[in-house]
Amino acid sequence: MIDLRSDTVSKPSLAMRKIIMNSDVGDDVIGDDPTVKRLEKLSAEIVGKQAALYVPSGTMGNLIALLVHCEINKAAIVGSESHILWHEGLGATKMGGIHLSQIKNESDGTFSEDELLNFTNDQVSLLGVLCIENTQNRCGGRVLNSSYIANIARFSKTVDCPVHMDGARIFNAAIALNCNVQDLTKDVDSVSFCFSKGLGAPVGSVLCGNDEFIRKAKKIRRNLGGGMRQVGIIASAAEYALLNNIDRLAEDHENAKLLAQHLLKFPCLEIDLKSIETNIIYAKIIGIDGDKLVASLARHGVQVSQPKTKQEIRIVTHIDISREQVLEAVSIFEKVISNISD
Ligand SMILES: Cc1ncc(COP(=O)(O)O)c(C=O)c1O
Repeated sequence: MIDLRSDTVSKPSLAMRKIIMNSDVGDDVIGDDPTVKRLEKLSAEIVGKQAALYVPSGTMGNLIALLVHCEINKAAIVGSESHILWHEGLGATKMGGIHLSQIKNESDGTFSEDELLNFTNDQVSLLGVLCIENTQNRCGGRVLNSSYIANIARFSKTVDCPVHMDGARIFNAAIALNCNVQDLTKDVDSVSFCFSKGLGAPVGSVLCGNDEFIRKAKKIRRNLGGGMRQVGIIASAAEYALLNNIDRLAEDHENAKLLAQHLLKFPCLEIDLKSIETNIIYAKIIGIDGDKLVASLARHGVQVSQPKTKQEIRIVTHIDISREQVLEAVSIFEKVISNISD
């Protein structure tokens, strides 16, 4: 099966499994796990923050960030296409009484400038945090560059509001922009990123910020049930991923471009090639039934997802997908589409 539904589907490599087996562990809730300590230190250093906290998921990382930045009745500004809004179940609203206020995301993942500038004028809640997402998943893995992020941070200062970056795929952004990841994180107050997506680890994310922020975050993690005991057993895989799997993300980006270029030849798929900056492709399905296409692809050995509508598929390349599999997937698309069109 060529599984292109998400970069979350990859499985730990043999080398990673060996590292897992030999993990040095301790009770992390009481601060005794040496592997977690190393991972948190390394994560904070890589993104240029004072401290970091290992958390079970990207969702929990974002939730904790919002709970720390916002008090009750404050608003978190999020993009209209953000993961926080669409896929994190209003956790911040339920747990923290935090109002999620939306600003329209443009197709390139940036905020609508008009909406952003007008935003502070008509809000019932005080601003608690402004959230940006890099790469922007639902916009198709689009990257926010350092000058855009610096502008957002400057604006945010004028309204006295911290910035949180959902950087689930921040290394994809850095690789696509050919920059140091710190160029993308230096202007934000907090950033979370995931080990279990393009980096290929089985579990976990990390939340980074200043010492005071992480001290508060740690208490909230415990309250949410996110304190994990001998968690070095998985933190070792995350550490391995950080040390070994960042540069290779470029291959996933090349594979995504290659796949999109080939898929363009099918008139029933509409793809904006210019929008493919990282490992995510969105294709609109024209003239054939989306559900039928997806089911038939799966029967022939290619899995894709439909996170938005049934007439739009998302295709994601990742560490377990080779160039050969990309070309094989193209042949399967060809076969399936010609069968459906007959
Ligand atoms: C942009 C973004 N943020 C956050 C998350 C949440 O991560 P997790 O699934 O680990 O909770 C995801 C998951 O796909 C994501 O794409």
